[in-house]
Amino acid sequence: MVPEEEKQDMEKSRVLVIGGTGHIGKHIVAASVRFGHPTAVLIREFTPSDPIKAQLLNSWVNSGASLLKGDLFDHESLVKAIKCADVVISAVGPRQVAEQMRIIAAIKEAGNVKRFVPSEFSSDVDRLHTVDPAASLYAVKANLRRLIEAEGIPHTYVSCNSFAETYLPSIGDVTTIGAGPPASKITFLGDGDAKVVFVVEDDIAAYTMRAVDDARTLNKILYMRPPTNMVSHNELISIWEKKAGRTLQKVRLPEEEILKCIKEAAFPLNILLSLALSTFVRGDQTNFDPAAGVEATQLYPDVV
Ligand SMILES: NC(=O)c1ccc[n+]([C@@H]2O[C@H](COP(=O)([O-])OP(=O)(O)OC[C@H]3O[C@@H](n4cnc5c(N)ncnc54)[C@H](OP(=O)(O)O)[C@@H]3O)[C@@H](O)[C@H]2O)c1
Repeated sequence: MVPEEEKQDMEKSRVLVIGGTGHIGKHIVAASVRFGHPTAVLIREFTPSDPIKAQLLNSWVNSGASLLKGDLFDHESLVKAIKCADVVISAVGPRQVAEQMRIIAAIKEAGNVKRFVPSEFSSDVDRLHTVDPAASLYAVKANLRRLIEAEGIPHTYVSCNSFAETYLPSIGDVTTIGAGPPASKITFLGDGDAKVVFVVEDDIAAYTMRAVDDARTLNKILYMRPPTNMVSHNELISIWEKKAGRTLQKVRLPEEEILKCIKEAAFPLNILLSLALSTFVRGDQTNFDPAAGVEATQLYPDVV
């Protein structure tokens, strides 16, 4: 929750969310509306065939958000939507991250944006040690940072670490993401001791929205490291075993095996393993001092 006095004192920026119907985007839209920002969402399809998506759009309209028709590949629609916003938050998916160059071009043309939050929502893209395909995805995000900086666009980079709703149902086993909790055995990578940060999507959205009008986060990386959410895979498995009252068989995948699997596996296991090599084996979410940017739980201790 935003403290009452902050709610009254702060002038709320007008927010445009691009990619609002996506996994993290829908949490961002909800938080933007909840925190009192005039909120618009760029939508590709006003009457989607997917009933869940249609219901989502209806709920936004009912809660006061505006829907603007547009597409990353329609420059005019981007400029028109951006002209009505102070803050642009992109939550487009991994397949569209490179196309965010188009948002940057539209922001330059519109000339009114006070803050741009590009679609990162990951580990810090400038501090990663992994291989392809994840290395290339992170390189695209890092190159986008350089473009934003070269163009002089005011920004905040959200380094939220791992989505809890993506990783926790399989207790951090990336080989079984989407399959729910393991029945009897669990795979862990490396020695299982690197600290990983899991942040609930609603909290990621709340921290992001608190940051967009905050001068302390301007042109900074916003790290999300809730101290109680920083656990190693071994610790996570042990917490789950205690709660579930049963023990899992542990299968260890050493680094050389992981590298071999990444080369041989098909999508999406190859990208999941190459992302996990960085987070679960090399500790890239916690192996540096967040003083390189600002840390969300320190700025907004009331959020979680
Ligand atoms: N930290 C983690 O654990 C984690 C996990 C997953 C993803 N991520 C990162 O989070 C960010 C968002 O990913 P996500 O998985 O939440 O995204 P997603 O669910 O794939 O959603 C993609 C969004 O982009 C929109 N979109 C696609 N093409 C578009 C276009 N041409 N023009 C305008 N909008 C378009 C989609 O709209 P439609 O509804 O029209 O298709 C949708 O709203 C990415 O940077 C990703 O790398 C992080």
